[in-house]
Amino acid sequence: MLIDGHGRTVNYLRVSVTERCNFRCQYCMPEKPFSWVPKENLLSFDELFLFMKVAIDEGVSKIRITGGEPLLREDLDQFIKMIHDYKPDIDLALTTNAYLLPQTAQRLKDAGLKRLNISLDSLQPAIAHKIAQKDVLTQVLKGIDKALEVGLGVKINMVPMKGINDNEILDIIDYCQTRHIKVRFIEYMENHHANQSIEGMHGKEILAKVKERYTIKALGREGASPSFNYLLDNGYEFGLIDPHKHDFCENCNRIRLTAEGNLIPCLYFDEAMSIASAVKEGDIQGAANVLAQVLKDKPKENRWSSFDPNESDVSQRAFYETGG
Ligand code: GTP
Ligand code: 5AD
Ligand code: SF4
Repeated sequence: MLIDGHGRTVNYLRVSVTERCNFRCQYCMPEKPFSWVPKENLLSFDELFLFMKVAIDEGVSKIRITGGEPLLREDLDQFIKMIHDYKPDIDLALTTNAYLLPQTAQRLKDAGLKRLNISLDSLQPAIAHKIAQKDVLTQVLKGIDKALEVGLGVKINMVPMKGINDNEILDIIDYCQTRHIKVRFIEYMENHHANQSIEGMHGKEILAKVKERYTIKALGREGASPSFNYLLDNGYEFGLIDPHKHDFCENCNRIRLTAEGNLIPCLYFDEAMSIASAVKEGDIQGAANVLAQVLKDKPKENRWSSFDPNESDVSQRAFYETGG
């Protein structure tokens, strides 16, 4: 079992396979990043997998593949199959913008992927275009349909932003309820790479919008999930991820691995240690030692509640690198 320095059990590993993306979401990377990580700096699937096996053997039971946009990495289905074949009962999921799903969903399912979390910030073509800085909506909706058709589990993530998509919260609920899928509204997390004019909606404001039409009942958190669940009077259940409260940090069960091999104990802080040289040398003990050190140093909680753009200690690392 993996236990961190604050006594929390860590059983969830998020693995970013590329920081590249085919979208430019305003809350993530409004401009093309100054330079992409050169391809030769990316760990190969075999190298990533060597570390993942160490983590699985020590107690990781949930793996999420992220990016950037993970479906841009060639032969991703083969990587998924490697993980699935090693431990078929692992909770194996992927977070994506859905753009490439129409042509990949079936292969992902066949490789052993169980579920997908998909970003859907607007149902209006022009607003979706404005947010992602690309005309994406038709293809994204096709991707969601395809994922459902092939039998993958699907959840939707929406980041509500004032004056942009804040009037679509109820529409997104309708869309998801019709398809029997869960939506989680995520409070915008301020960061140095986003369009700085963005103003996120606070969790309370998101709930107020939902209450314009529904009566809601607070259900609570599912285990260590950052999402707090609510039930509508019509029986539909949705989630709210509110990192500005950071009470989910108490039960945080996750660590993140970037495509270059940096092992990150918390999304908010810069701290990270590299497993790259260990896995390139096939040094299993070395990789296990880095894992143990990162767990020992895992911070207690994030500090988004006191975010100040001038003084913030939030990491300079972009979400497209950590995978959100
Ligand atoms: P499930 O397994 O479906 O619960 O997935 P998930 O919520 O762990 O994964 P997803 O990639 O959909 O994450 C949703 C978003 O929640 C992330 O992109 C972040 O924005 C936020 N989030 C997840 N984990 C953390 C965390 O440890 N800290 C903070 N601040 N936010 C997090
Ligand atoms: N604030 C909140 N959520 C974000 N995501 C990416 N950047 C941010 C941000 N700054 C979300 C995406 C995706 C998930 C992995 O992270 O919408 O669904
Ligand atoms: Fe790409 Fe996801 Fe960032 Fe959007 S939020 S630019 S889809 S990595």
